[in-house]
Amino acid sequence: ATTLGAQAAQSGRYFGAAVAAGKLGDGTYATILDREFSMVTPENEMKWDTTERTRGSFNFTPADQIVSHATAHGQRMRGHTLVWHSQLPSWVSSITDANTLRSVMNNHITTQMAHFKGRIYAWDVVNEAFADGSSGTHRSSVFQNLLGDGFIEQAFRTARTADPAAKLCYNDYNIEDWSAAKTQGVYRMVRDFKSRGVPLDCVGFQAHFGTSGPPASFQTTLSNFAALGVDVQITELDIAQAPTAAYANTVKACLNVSRCTGITVWGIRDSDSWRSGVFPLLFDSGGNKKPAYNAVLTAM
Ligand code: XIL
Repeated sequence: ATTLGAQAAQSGRYFGAAVAAGKLGDGTYATILDREFSMVTPENEMKWDTTERTRGSFNFTPADQIVSHATAHGQRMRGHTLVWHSQLPSWVSSITDANTLRSVMNNHITTQMAHFKGRIYAWDVVNEAFADGSSGTHRSSVFQNLLGDGFIEQAFRTARTADPAAKLCYNDYNIEDWSAAKTQGVYRMVRDFKSRGVPLDCVGFQAHFGTSGPPASFQTTLSNFAALGVDVQITELDIAQAPTAAYANTVKACLNVSRCTGITVWGIRDSDSWRSGVFPLLFDSGGNKKPAYNAVLTAM
C-alpha cells in the first residue's frame, strides 16, 4: 500500500496522528492527515483545562471539531485524556477534600465520556500516574494525595459505566524498557487489575524517544503486557532526529506482537511537534515525506 493507514490496515492495525483543531484549516496539514492516517488523537482539546476549565462548565467545541473531521474522513478516535496531573485547572488541583475530589473526578469522566459516547474507539482514562525513577509507585498528584492508590481503579470503574463500548486504556511514558522500575510498577498494576476484574482493556506506550529510538527490550515489554490480557498501542511516537532505523525498529516491535493494535505519531510535520527543535516526525515542515516515512512504510 502507499499510505501509512492503508499499510497498517493490511495487518488489521491502524496508523494515527495527534491532531490540533486549530490546524484543520491548513490545507497541507489536512491533506496529509486525510491521506495517511486512520486514527486521530486530539493533541490538547480533550484535556481537563480545555473541557472543564471551571467546575461544572464543559466546553467540547474544539474537540467536536476534530471528531467531526475524523468522522467525515473515516478515521477513528482515541480520547485523550480524562485523569491527568498536568494541564489540570487549578480549581481541581487546589481541592483539599477527598469526597469533593472523588465526585469531581467521577463527574468529569462521566460527562465527557457521555458527550462523545459511540464515537471513541479507546480512551486514555488515566495518563502518566506513575513516578519516574526507581520507586515503581504512583507519582504525587492531587488525585493520589487525596484519594490514595485506589483513584486509578475508581476512574476505570466510572469510565466503564459511562461508555461500556469504549476500550479503556492506561497511558504513560518511559515504560518501554522492560527493566525500568516504572515499567514494572505499571505491569504490577495491570496484572492486579486483570486478576481482580477491574475494567482495563489496553495500555498505551507513549514512545517519546531520543535519537537511539526504542530500548532493545521494547518488543518484550509489549508482549509481556499483552500476555496479561490487554491490547497494547504505541500512542505518542516521536524520535529525535527521526533516524530511519529507530523508526523501523519501533514499528517492527509492534508488528511482532499480535495484540499491538496500532501506532500513533505525536503530530504530522516537524513544525507541528511539541518537540519541533529535534525534528522528530515523519513529514518535514513543508509537508514532504522524510526518509523515516519510507522506513516506516517498508517496516509494515
Ligand atoms: C503535549 C502537547 O503535545 C503540547 O501541545 C502541550 O503543550 C503539552 O502536552 N504526554 C502526553 C501528551 O500524554 O498529552 C503531551 O502532549 C505530551 C506528553
